[in-house]
Amino acid sequence: MVRKSDNTSTFESTRRRKRLDEDEIFSPEEQARFEAMRSEDFDEGPIDDGPPVGDRWSIWDDSEPLQRGPKPWPEWIVTDLGAVDYELGVLKTGKEADVFLIERAVPDTDRAVLMASKRYRSAEHTQFNRAGDYTAGRTARRSRDRRAMEKRTRFGLEQAAGRWAAAEFDALKRLYAVGVAVPYPVQILGTEVIMEFIGTGRTAAPRLAETKPDEVELESLWEQACENLRLMTEQGFAHGDLSPYNTVVHEGRLVVLDLPQIVDIYANPKGGQFLIRDIENLGSWFTAKGLERHDVDELMNELLTIAGMS
Ligand SMILES: Nc1ncnc2c1ncn2[C@@H]1O[C@H](COP(=O)(O)OP(=O)(O)OP(=O)(O)O)[C@@H](O)[C@H]1O
Ligand SMILES: [Mg+2]
Repeated sequence: MVRKSDNTSTFESTRRRKRLDEDEIFSPEEQARFEAMRSEDFDEGPIDDGPPVGDRWSIWDDSEPLQRGPKPWPEWIVTDLGAVDYELGVLKTGKEADVFLIERAVPDTDRAVLMASKRYRSAEHTQFNRAGDYTAGRTARRSRDRRAMEKRTRFGLEQAAGRWAAAEFDALKRLYAVGVAVPYPVQILGTEVIMEFIGTGRTAAPRLAETKPDEVELESLWEQACENLRLMTEQGFAHGDLSPYNTVVHEGRLVVLDLPQIVDIYANPKGGQFLIRDIENLGSWFTAKGLERHDVDELMNELLTIAGMS
């Protein structure tokens, strides 16, 4: 107890000293400006009148044309200005991103579509800010330096998250265009990528790793894996993180997910290694299920030949 009050008083006097220093160094006008900057941080901006139903207005219209999926738009896309988005829950939380199930619906009609919304983490969810929450209240007023640093960190993290999202959206668009089985990319806005939901009802399709295919199904899934890898290699890309966890199976169809780290196999000095690793990671799951190793080797040779690396 005694210790605690000691700490508090030391802290209080430091704080008073800090305030005094500021009064001495800055003119009243400058101080007024700082105060205004400080209160800006707490300004929550204009109050947004949410839609009468749903969790937000559809953000479809907030994306620029290039931030939307390639045309022709699938018939299930909801583009109505009056549409709303419902948050239906989390499909998966990850280190860098969380994937949510959302529904975009036109109120008072039967037009609605389920979609997956992958949101890259920015400032609010990082350890940095959790640390900030933890210490909140310890300081009545944080120092200018610290506030400036936090602002920059927040900005930096927001930027990084936005870049990952943009990279994933771009990869989805490119690969979708050449026929790789990826979810149709609906739109990107900031750190959020909205794509086709692969699943039945509200249940996401199982990851390849969770499936137990019989011999015929295994053969079919392997054929599809080969074809998807062929198409990507022809475009000069390796997935970069291909595995039975980043592929799902929906009604017998293999769909490739999680593409922000897609690798340009020519520009990247380790491009060939990424390609080989992708084939190995997926191939070893298939051989564990009964595929002949010979088939994996054959694919390896074929793809390295396509890439001009054999
Ligand atoms: N379009 C989609 N449709 C259905 N399920 C999806 C979709 N996108 C992602 N998921 C589910 O969410 C999981 C995580 O997605 P993804 O791999 O893209 O994110 P991640 O943050 O990289 O996750 P991790 O770090 O676990 O790899 C997938 O394994 C899949 O189960
Ligand atoms: Mg993943």
